Amino acid sequence: MESFRTIESLQSALTSLKNQGKKIGFVPTMGALHGGHIKLVEYAHKECDVVVVSIFVNPTQFNNAGDLEKYPKREKEDLQMLEEAKCDFVIIPKVDDVYPEEYQKNTIELGIIDKVMEGEFRPGHFQGVVNVVSRFFEIIQPDKAYFGNKDFQQVAVIKLMVKQLNLPVEVVGVPTKRLPNGLAMSSRNYRLSESEVQESSIIYKTLIKGREWASKFSPAVTRQKMIDYFQQGNLKLEYLQIVHPESMEDLNQYWVPGAIAGIAAFSGDVRLIDNMELIEEPQELHTH
Ligand code: PAJ
Repeated sequence: MESFRTIESLQSALTSLKNQGKKIGFVPTMGALHGGHIKLVEYAHKECDVVVVSIFVNPTQFNNAGDLEKYPKREKEDLQMLEEAKCDFVIIPKVDDVYPEEYQKNTIELGIIDKVMEGEFRPGHFQGVVNVVSRFFEIIQPDKAYFGNKDFQQVAVIKLMVKQLNLPVEVVGVPTKRLPNGLAMSSRNYRLSESEVQESSIIYKTLIKGREWASKFSPAVTRQKMIDYFQQGNLKLEYLQIVHPESMEDLNQYWVPGAIAGIAAFSGDVRLIDNMELIEEPQELHTH
């Protein structure tokens, strides 16, 4: 594995590989890596010749300065994990290199995604994600880019961005990696105590209960039951929504295939999110 501190040095290493027709897979991260990130690297490894990971805590996507400051940093451990995962290139750039003074940041029309759930509670967050991911796409020009479905609205934002900016990148969504107690892996978990990790599994348990209730009750009733169940635990709920997987509008009376529940909650001052499909999409039929 080679690590780079400047965009220029990464680009010159990539040029000759691209000229040889190698397929480039890109995994953007903010570091403090865990098994979820490594799963993205593994997916990229299977489908591409060269895997590039970025580690960059993007200031433009934090709507809260305290959150940015407290974001965990573990560069040494990160590099070791990436080495073990057989990542080829890692880029750890400085803010000024990503956003030079003259650089015009990309923004897109986000529509409803920016108004519900993460969009509602983190104003400006998704435009910040668009700023940084579009910049990295310009720099790296990957064939494929990998994102976790744990941040399902983020996956939707990136797909919309690729469409609106007409970028030649295939966006791949990867299933959520969880701890044995069901808690979705997250860099923010590094800030939880052992007992908080245990308590936070209430998020997963609520989603699983939601699946059960979805087969018997309407979305509105299911949602209320999930909220009541969640509130037996110790976390503070920010939102729990059941939405259409594409329009992201709240479902009330009727279910649709792929209906998804999203939760954001605080364990102390650590904000956690998760989601789950409550009604499965019909599976494709395999004829062989
Ligand atoms: P970060 O939170 O570091 O996550 C990097 C990628 O890992 C994202 O695509 C995220 O969805 C994925 N991921 C996180 N936890 C996961 C889990 N438990 N299972 C599977 N995948 C998981 O998301 C960001 O950074 C930033 O917004 C970024 C896209 C890098 C732009 O700055």
